[in-house]
Amino acid sequence: MAALLEIDDLQVWYGDLQALYGVSTALDEGRVLALIGANGAGKSTLLSAVCGLLEGRAEGAVRLQGAPLLGRPAEALAYEGIALVPEGRMLFPSLSVEENLRMGMLTRRAGHWTLQRVYELFPVLQEFRTRPATALSGGQQQMVAIGRALLANPRLLLCDEISLGLAPVIVRQIYESLQQVRAQGMAIVLVEQDVQRACRMADAVCCLLKGRVTLQGKADAFDHARIAQAYFGH
Ligand SMILES: Nc1ncnc2c1ncn2[C@@H]1O[C@H](COP(=O)(O)OP(=O)(O)OP(=O)(O)O)[C@@H](O)[C@H]1O
Ligand SMILES: [Mg+2]
Repeated sequence: MAALLEIDDLQVWYGDLQALYGVSTALDEGRVLALIGANGAGKSTLLSAVCGLLEGRAEGAVRLQGAPLLGRPAEALAYEGIALVPEGRMLFPSLSVEENLRMGMLTRRAGHWTLQRVYELFPVLQEFRTRPATALSGGQQQMVAIGRALLANPRLLLCDEISLGLAPVIVRQIYESLQQVRAQGMAIVLVEQDVQRACRMADAVCCLLKGRVTLQGKADAFDHARIAQAYFGH
């Protein structure tokens, strides 16, 4: 059977700048992939190619259970079961917490996640449901962004730097909630600066360096020095 997500020899250009050089990776249903790499390595580019938001030109293949995705619009891919928690959260500042959450229901599939279950996962969001989303703390806003993605009931959740700039106690809380998400069988691609945290949660790890895969395999297969070498290239 085909993997849930298959990326095969993916190349991406922004104008003359090549951002990805023949990236190949795969992820099975219900699994977690940690996608790591330094600034500008191409992590967000890879996620945007998977969810239909790529601004550059792509060659190669991205497949969801064997069906090609490249070139299809983001909305169609949302209905296929791909949801992104974008870097910087991208909430609607003029909308309340609940209205932002409901945006995720526009492309809703059948599944576990309902508004009530998102509120059980993040009780503080229920308490603040009528407040403007941007009146919340950074961590709470991240919970809104995750909740919004869950409400689409994706098969594949793409998380871009969800812990960036947050206090350690909030980061722990958010990762605990992701474990609950994963327990429902959702596959996750985790872009994370904190490599150790990412590898603790993930089944597999893929490291990019300047648009190329420098390391790939089981998350616990590599020691610190090997990962650092793949991450920095020296
Ligand atoms: N929309 C865009 N237009 C032009 N160049 C872009 C665009 N998005 C990314 N790039 C370039 O593509 C390369 C990869 O960027 P990308 O944002 O994918 O990296 P990243 O690994 O997510 O980095 P970071 O850790 O800083 O988020 C960089 O050289 C970046 O400047
Ligand atoms: Mg990025």
